[in-house]
Amino acid sequence: MKNIDSITHIKGESVYLDDIPLVKGTLFGAAFGSPIAHGVIRNLDIDDALQQPGVVKILTYKDITGINQIGGIVPDEPLLAEHHVHFIGMPVAFVVAETYDAARAAIKKIKIDIDPLPVITDPREAKEKNELIVPPRTFVLGDVDEAWSKCSYVFEGIAETNGQEHLYIETQGAYAIPQENASIKIYSSTQSPRATQQASCKVTGLSMHQVEVEVIRLGGAFGGKEDQANAWAAMCALASHLLKKPVKYSLHRMEDMVMTGKRHPYSSDFKIGLDSDLKIVAYEATFYQNAGAAADLSPAVLERTLFHCTNSYYIPNVNAKAYSCRTHLPPNTAFRGFGGPQGMFVIEAAIAKAAESLGMDASVIQKKNLNQTGDEFPYGQIAVSEAKPCWERAERIYDVATLRKEIENFNAENSLYKKGLAFMPVCFGISFTNTMMNQARALVHVYTDGSVSVTTGAVEMGQGVNTKILQVAAQVFSIQPGKVRIQSTSTHKIANTSPSAASSTADLNGIATMMACTAIKERLLKVASEALNEDVSSIEIKNEKLYVNGVDTDWDWQRLVMAAFLKRVSLSEHAHYATPEIHYDKLKEKGHPFAYHVYGTGIIIVTVDCLRGTYEFDAVKVVHDFGCSMNTAIDLGQIEGGIVQGIGWMTMEEIVYDKEGKLRSNSLSTYKVPDIYSVPKIIDIDSLESNTDNLAIFRSKAVGEPPLMYGIGAYFALRNAIKAFNPSAQISFSAPMTPEKVLLSLYQKKGISIHEQTIKYMAIPS
Ligand code: MOS
Repeated sequence: MKNIDSITHIKGESVYLDDIPLVKGTLFGAAFGSPIAHGVIRNLDIDDALQQPGVVKILTYKDITGINQIGGIVPDEPLLAEHHVHFIGMPVAFVVAETYDAARAAIKKIKIDIDPLPVITDPREAKEKNELIVPPRTFVLGDVDEAWSKCSYVFEGIAETNGQEHLYIETQGAYAIPQENASIKIYSSTQSPRATQQASCKVTGLSMHQVEVEVIRLGGAFGGKEDQANAWAAMCALASHLLKKPVKYSLHRMEDMVMTGKRHPYSSDFKIGLDSDLKIVAYEATFYQNAGAAADLSPAVLERTLFHCTNSYYIPNVNAKAYSCRTHLPPNTAFRGFGGPQGMFVIEAAIAKAAESLGMDASVIQKKNLNQTGDEFPYGQIAVSEAKPCWERAERIYDVATLRKEIENFNAENSLYKKGLAFMPVCFGISFTNTMMNQARALVHVYTDGSVSVTTGAVEMGQGVNTKILQVAAQVFSIQPGKVRIQSTSTHKIANTSPSAASSTADLNGIATMMACTAIKERLLKVASEALNEDVSSIEIKNEKLYVNGVDTDWDWQRLVMAAFLKRVSLSEHAHYATPEIHYDKLKEKGHPFAYHVYGTGIIIVTVDCLRGTYEFDAVKVVHDFGCSMNTAIDLGQIEGGIVQGIGWMTMEEIVYDKEGKLRSNSLSTYKVPDIYSVPKIIDIDSLESNTDNLAIFRSKAVGEPPLMYGIGAYFALRNAIKAFNPSAQISFSAPMTPEKVLLSLYQKKGISIHEQTIKYMAIPS
């Protein structure tokens, strides 16, 4: 089934925040952010700004009617700075004016006097200074200290990954409209209606039943709107609460890039020990997470780094420690993979280091150490599925032996172009690691004309969750998909939602929908049973017709629904689902945190232009464990998008903050995201249909985040191509591997400087 939004998207009729018709009298807001990364505010002068034409009010922390606090996990994040500023762009004041232009013009007239304090941008420096967001976490399996002596080879190193800008097409924004009796309705571009509602309540002092957050859909989020949609909504809510006027704020792209956090950069130490048979015996890692200036979701992201620190491998002795380090950057936040990719990069770097030191291809070590059913993860969960089937199927169906031969021949024949290949196995746990969050609700109404309305806590952000939920309802009732409509997400209809995140949205909300529909269906069948005087078990609804013992009746869906209504049987249901089986003990760091794991293996092939340092990805070939996909079109779309986003993170997206904590890559002219030209020429996706039991909706495994991590292979494929050109290159494990870094590595220790090489290149006749 096609994504149900495809037609309105193409016609431009899909409704995003900026498409919501404005209520008369709407005012427009804009946040004034700190120009300095760390310091004490001496004076804030808004008098000039207030005199600007069209300006209605300028809010500071003094105007807050509730509490000045929006921190989700740790209460360390004021909505508006009081006396201290902790990052450039930290909101200090909120200007409300008759137009956006007036609001933004007034911002330029605000004068702020800040006594600067030392700025930390490096997580290791923050850790040295004991600037930690939360105490460190350590995952232990076996005993590494004892294991080192059993190793034939031990390698150590450092691995670093940079951040990543979410670059959702729709920037952050919110629109608050006052309602009767001091209540407020907020439209927000948020992944987490409940969190946005809660932050707005805290700041205004209103109760949750007075503040409704409604979400129609988002133009992308990727984790960036899991927590960071809240501030803008709270500002609009506060302004609308004070002024009794509708207030809207949609961020400019550059405001968004400067003021919001990104994927967490990590710097990590690793130590890996192998026996003579290349089995990994011990692995030690220390992760320094660059959390930015406030906790935001960092502690949860940190946790997932630890959960995925051994990726797809079984390692009997593991010690992994992670520090969440407070720096003076915008608070970093959720981003597709949620710390998992950062953890996986480090183990892959450790394996690459071992392989390169031992003079072999990393895939030899990777393959030898793939986990098997029954193996224990460092967090105590026992694997009920395994990594090997995807890997072996990939080797076979993509004929890797031939691919390798072709690459070898190509590299032998070409001196200025080199190809590299890398394997990237992925094992990703599905569930929120915070067990409490694994709950969802669905509200289903069957109307008397036979049409069906479904409301859940799921937020549609392009990932296709509404299509999947619609399929669930249509399938349970056995009615045409056109009879079902998925309604917008609203905190008044579905309360206490978990964010649409952790790849779990379709599972949680889909199963809740299944439960609600099943309950209504059971009531309908009972009505039919009484009317037809037949046993319930003999009655079935199929394609909107009623069958008794497989024989057609003259009852159809609509007649059945009407019969139930006339008998005063409820045609509505609100169902609650909580993932069974999962639990986790944070004190012991052991438990069963995931409903199931998603596995896959990606093979990435790159061609490097060794004169320019530029590259193209020839192919990404994947065998992915779909479980039993309920919508192949949507799942393939998620995989393709995830791969390209992962490649972007690993190869071209380079966030640059200077020493003063100023974002230098603050627009699309300085921050390069993959475009159609950087998409791999071939993306082959083959499915492993695993029918082992899993807790996914219809056994269709979660697909949102896992594919991003195939992109990690892009970094290692590039490394292999560079090594083919310059075998002596000592390449640091530092992503992204931009063309500049590729070029430097290609000519490192070859006695040719980049400059000389450039001149030579310019002299080559074309
Ligand atoms: Mo997602 S990174 O779990 O919002």
